[in-house]
Amino acid sequence: MPTTLLDGIGLLVTGSPEHGDGSPLGEIPDAALVVDAGGLVAWVGPSARAPAADTRVDAAGRCVIPGFVDSHAHLVFAGDRSAEFAARMAGRPYEAGGIRTTVAATRAAPDDVLTANLAGLVAEMWRQGTTTVEVKSGYGLTVHDEARALALAGQVTAETTFLGAHVVPSEFASRPDDYVDLVVGEMLDACAPHARWVDVFCERGAFGADAARTVLTAGLERGLGARVHANQLGPGPGVQLACELDAASADHCTHLSDDDVAALAGSDTVATLLPGVEFSTRSPYPDARRLLDAGVTVALATDCNPGSCFTSSMPFCIALAVREMRMTPAEALWAATVGGASALRRADVGRLVPAARADLAVLDAPSYVHLAYRAGVPLIAAVWRRGRPEPLA
Ligand code: NIG
Ligand code: FE
Repeated sequence: MPTTLLDGIGLLVTGSPEHGDGSPLGEIPDAALVVDAGGLVAWVGPSARAPAADTRVDAAGRCVIPGFVDSHAHLVFAGDRSAEFAARMAGRPYEAGGIRTTVAATRAAPDDVLTANLAGLVAEMWRQGTTTVEVKSGYGLTVHDEARALALAGQVTAETTFLGAHVVPSEFASRPDDYVDLVVGEMLDACAPHARWVDVFCERGAFGADAARTVLTAGLERGLGARVHANQLGPGPGVQLACELDAASADHCTHLSDDDVAALAGSDTVATLLPGVEFSTRSPYPDARRLLDAGVTVALATDCNPGSCFTSSMPFCIALAVREMRMTPAEALWAATVGGASALRRADVGRLVPAARADLAVLDAPSYVHLAYRAGVPLIAAVWRRGRPEPLA
């Protein structure tokens, strides 16, 4: 592959204070970026000092940002729950039990239906600037269906997460302990080879602290990294457990005590906020300002799933974070790129710095601020993966 000079960048976001204006977001006006023969960033800096390359592409004054890292998504499913959404908008509360509706539809779906839905959602994300996505199982809840979901997810991403402990399936309703035994036994055996992460929905109506600890510990012992659906519907033990077990991320974090915030601040566990969920369930948003002011690393992700939030759009989540969670546009973009990479413990994505992957989005705008300022407008002009521009259609 020839080396490429992407020049004429009106504003480049590197995601690194060492490359740019010293701010966490790392902004460089009138910038250029060079991609090496392997699709990695070789150089970033002011256009006037750019080294030569084999080919040159002109960004025509547009803003270039790292591709979004969506670190939380449930994309392997079948069926439709728009009626549930409509009922919520008419006043019904969101309940974890709705997951079982999707479980029934997913189990009944042949592989090609699941694959087509998954590929369609990944393509939808791509068109909106997402270049790395995590994909969870969790709508199979049998040994066969969980392993199947992860094998399919592995065809679109390396960031695969075993979420057998999403909810107790109906057939185990009277014996939830037996289901946990299955998850940490035969199901984990079948799923661990296809997964990088283990996750658990630690919540009233799903799994309590003891069961969650059992599942996460079993996954850790198999070499998986931990992540936790924590404190979504109410206060609970999920965040503390995530921090104690050095989970890469505690996700949702909608209902936090002062102790939860302190635990996150004193840990390497990222707080991944999913404002699309609060939008789609008409719930109060998490207090991002409180977390940021306490020094917690914050990520933003979509949580794309058919129940609590069926958006695939990171720009939409950025707009919500800015409007509803009092994050600045710079903080929100950082959380959607560097933050997401931190939540996946990845240093090679989410930033445009030497040796990182040249995964980027070109915005039809002079500044990333437009992601929130022009909410709802499709601003992604181009997406590059590994240094190659790829068609958006
Ligand atoms: O992250 N909280 C648990 N799981 C999903 C919702 C899944 C569903 O409702 O189908 C979430 O919000
Ligand atoms: Fe989720």
